[in-house]
Amino acid sequence: MDATINKPALDCIMTRTSVRSYSDKEISKETVETIIRAAMAAPSAMNKQPWHFFVIRGEQLRDTIADTLEYGRQSLRNAQMAIVVAGDKSRFFEEAESVDYWVEDCSAAAENLLLAAHAVGLGAVWCGVYPIPSRIEQLRRATGISEEFVPMCIIPIGYPDTIQEPKDKWDPAKVTYLD
Ligand SMILES: Cc1cc2nc3c(=O)[nH]c(=O)nc-3n(C[C@H](O)[C@H](O)[C@H](O)COP(=O)(O)O)c2cc1C
Repeated sequence: MDATINKPALDCIMTRTSVRSYSDKEISKETVETIIRAAMAAPSAMNKQPWHFFVIRGEQLRDTIADTLEYGRQSLRNAQMAIVVAGDKSRFFEEAESVDYWVEDCSAAAENLLLAAHAVGLGAVWCGVYPIPSRIEQLRRATGISEEFVPMCIIPIGYPDTIQEPKDKWDPAKVTYLD
């Protein structure tokens, strides 16, 4: 292998997989901050960083969110916490042609968060919210997230209670070399 290749980083990317079932082991505050720091390290168009992270824990997660949301319910019910990655409208581009960049920016942050969670031994799953209006509304009602933000996804997180095998998605037919 090329000596410049960072094996641990690649291992982390290649072994991440969606985890929907968790043990009851608690997640420390430091670990929560570590994964959110990783999320905020993501690239964003013009470095606008148009994201906000809502951390949901404890009773609110189990009693309110898991019972209210129709999707991701199973994962949310046994997760230790969930993080909503939301677009912060005050940081969106004003130009109509660029305004949707917030979706890519928040997606990059969400993927960083998933990878960081995996790197510290946690399991997580991206539950899509945006652009489905009913999911956005449900999540707003369950959390009180205001109109200043657009919830893009909710990520239940906890220590995995079983070992999950990553899926092999390599498909050379999806690559075209244009040279
Ligand atoms: C935009 C998006 C929306 C998703 N929504 C859900 C969801 O609502 N519920 C769920 O259980 N998983 C959801 N997932 C996770 C995918 O099902 C999962 O990433 C996919 O099956 C590939 O599996 P892997 O993550 O283990 O590689 C979503 C993933 C993405 C990127």
